[in-house]
Amino acid sequence: MQLIDGKALAKKVQDSVATEVEQLKQEENIVPGLAVILVGDDPASHAYVKMKAKACEKVGFYSITHNMPDTISQDEIIATIEMMNSNPRIDGILVQLPLPKHIDTDKILEVIDPKKDVDGFHAYNVGRLVTGLDSFVACTPLGVMKMFEEYNIELQGKDVCVVGASNIVGKPMASLLLNANATVTITHIFTKDLKAHTSKADIVVVGVGVPGLIKEDMVKEGAIVIDIGINRIEDGSLVGDVDFKNVSPKCSYITPVPGGVGPMTIAMLLSNTLKSAKQRV
Ligand code: GUN
Repeated sequence: MQLIDGKALAKKVQDSVATEVEQLKQEENIVPGLAVILVGDDPASHAYVKMKAKACEKVGFYSITHNMPDTISQDEIIATIEMMNSNPRIDGILVQLPLPKHIDTDKILEVIDPKKDVDGFHAYNVGRLVTGLDSFVACTPLGVMKMFEEYNIELQGKDVCVVGASNIVGKPMASLLLNANATVTITHIFTKDLKAHTSKADIVVVGVGVPGLIKEDMVKEGAIVIDIGINRIEDGSLVGDVDFKNVSPKCSYITPVPGGVGPMTIAMLLSNTLKSAKQRV
């Protein structure tokens, strides 16, 4: 069993972004800029946004966070996004999800200029991803693809089971895998027999937010298991969606939680923002 070290790979990506930023500054006088919109006071969202801002600073980006109370109107959020759309210092716009219930998330995401949509959530980018065209791709699944590449894990012809069909993880993950010629099964909350699908797969990718959902008898010997879940349990510790202790001995490769997919999400956000800034040239 080999651990896939997301922390180390994220650092490698971050270092290479920092080098390119320095070059971009010197040669083109461009400083990549990221705007983050954070609505409400969800502690997890605040923690994520803080980590994103810190990472931006580390690689030499300009970054700005718009903190808004959860009483804010949809129109005010839209006005802020439109301001960022026309701000030439801003290359990437990220609206931290989830948004409060009175806000129509689809409507908000639609307002972001697709060329600044570094989260890859806009329907324009999702459509381009599905058709196999160059696009901004959601950071978490993109980070998983980077892990496969780094560890020389071949995807063509492999049976992959993606557990969870969210717009921000499962669906883009499945599209990326399909584009890489894998045979992809997507399971979700209405799937009749989850184990029947996961136990046949060469690779299981799970991101649903259910601690310990994937158990030892649900994966085959030698499987590759990618755990996207980050769950804080009663004793305060972080665990994934995989029962790591019992599943890991069966795996050829597995990602730990923490230190697996988590750090990759921010690294790919930096990479997407740099990609957008380069398009200024
Ligand atoms: N909420 C949970 N994950 C994400 C993410 O990758 N991007 C944004 N904007 N919000 C999230």
